[in-house]
Amino acid sequence: MDKGVFERKKIDELVKHALEVKERAYAPYSKFRVGAALLTGDGRVYTGCNVENASFGLTICAERNAVFRAIADDCRDFKAIAIVSDADDYCIPCGACRQVLVEFSRDLTVIMANNKGDYRLTTITELLPEAFSGDSVTGGR
Ligand code: THU
Repeated sequence: MDKGVFERKKIDELVKHALEVKERAYAPYSKFRVGAALLTGDGRVYTGCNVENASFGLTICAERNAVFRAIADDCRDFKAIAIVSDADDYCIPCGACRQVLVEFSRDLTVIMANNKGDYRLTTITELLPEAFSGDSVTGGR
């Protein structure tokens, strides 16, 4: 993907937010801490971390937490999301998060980053081609 879409400074800023919120992840079971920062069309940033539960299936991912915080704040216009973890490999969003992200933006930029300043850019459509959508439910009506 074209890295020129976002300036390096903007990407670094968003990644910084994701790294900060990762510190507040509640992941005592997996020890896999994730932070996400969602950039809105008007420049706001909503962050989220993963929150695990002793009943494992109740765990919520960082990305969905960020989306739900934005929605509750009446914001649905998303431009990009930065995702970080402590792992050496980039943290790629899980299938459930991809589906939730594509609900609100078909051209969302996805930034997977680490704390060394490296990152990978892609789009939600690349990660979830032929997504199930509102049109699938309504038949486009
Ligand atoms: N996790 C996220 O927060 N986002 C992802 O995209 C992948 C997985 C969390 C869920 C769980 O708390 C931990 O990482 C291990 O799966």
